[in-house]
Amino acid sequence: MKKVLSGITPSGRLTLGNYIGAMKNFVKLQDEYQCYFMVADLHAITVPQEPEDLRERSEANAALYIAAGIDASKSNVFLQSAVHQHAELGWLLTTLTSMGELERMTQYKDKSNGKESVGAGLFVYPSLMAADILLYNADLVPVGEDQKQHLELTRDLAGRFNHRYGECFTMPEPYIPKVGARVMCLDDASKKMSKSSTVPASYIALLDEPDVIRKKISRATTDSGAEVRYDVETKPEISNLMSIYAECSGLSLEDIRLKYEGKMYGGFKKELAEVIVNTLEPLQKRYYEIRESGEIHDILAQGANNASEIASSVLDDVKQRMGFLPSK
Ligand code: TYM
Repeated sequence: MKKVLSGITPSGRLTLGNYIGAMKNFVKLQDEYQCYFMVADLHAITVPQEPEDLRERSEANAALYIAAGIDASKSNVFLQSAVHQHAELGWLLTTLTSMGELERMTQYKDKSNGKESVGAGLFVYPSLMAADILLYNADLVPVGEDQKQHLELTRDLAGRFNHRYGECFTMPEPYIPKVGARVMCLDDASKKMSKSSTVPASYIALLDEPDVIRKKISRATTDSGAEVRYDVETKPEISNLMSIYAECSGLSLEDIRLKYEGKMYGGFKKELAEVIVNTLEPLQKRYYEIRESGEIHDILAQGANNASEIASSVLDDVKQRMGFLPSK
């Protein structure tokens, strides 16, 4: 069976962008692939985290995976930090990565921009991400558009390792949705919707209550026109809202255009809010049930167990090829 690996960093409240760009596809792929879905907690600490917040967000992130429809009897859900091979392979791959490659990463450039002091972890973050993927020989990696460059580096590192030490790693392919790969902020369609934003009105959190969602959508920025039409260049805000509508309803962008032909933005936004509420309400209900039951701890333990099995055999092979003496 072919394999899928992906992850979300517990660095904030997960957003509709995370759901549309990534989680929805995790659920879609789980019947056809052997899946590994991790909570990327080692990535979270590349920026300072309060320990208590990190614990809470990591558990919430895992519970949201299950609430979104990931079936723990089919897929492995685990914490990155619970499988120590991630950190170890991360280091091995860091030694194969050049400074120039890391300097070119746009996410690093954005996150470090204007900062006086930048952690080295933020810089080597992509090598750790490559380790996450290569450790399972993943064939497919479902992600949003913003991770594409990291995937390219992962492929370069896989190729470099295989060239130097013999065929070991599978070449992973990104799986990026056609619509919704880059959900933009509600208050500024030139910026990506982000869970680390300090402006709550800019994003829909997966756990936002229905009335909060309605308010945020009604206040979302739109142009001064009145035509519900998809055109990213001239109508970026409406195009963004249409993508969200399409991804939450299953309608195509053309269906939506026809549905709202000759109608005003107000009605479109009102119905969009209901479409989002209908998508998130069942997810939220399941989420609170899962948190209440405490079942997530067993799911994470089982997931880490399964993940460790494959991760340790791949890492042993990597170390042997690189020339490390066997430790036992
Ligand atoms: P993170 O936590 O920033 O985002 C998690 C996933 O959500 C997608 N995403 C979006 N998609 C569409 N529109 C948006 N506005 C939006 N915001 C986020 C991201 O593309 C991503 O797929 N480095 C990764 C986590 C990670 C990982 C991995 C992913 C660590 N190791 C290995 C894949 C494979 C990250 O921080 O994603």
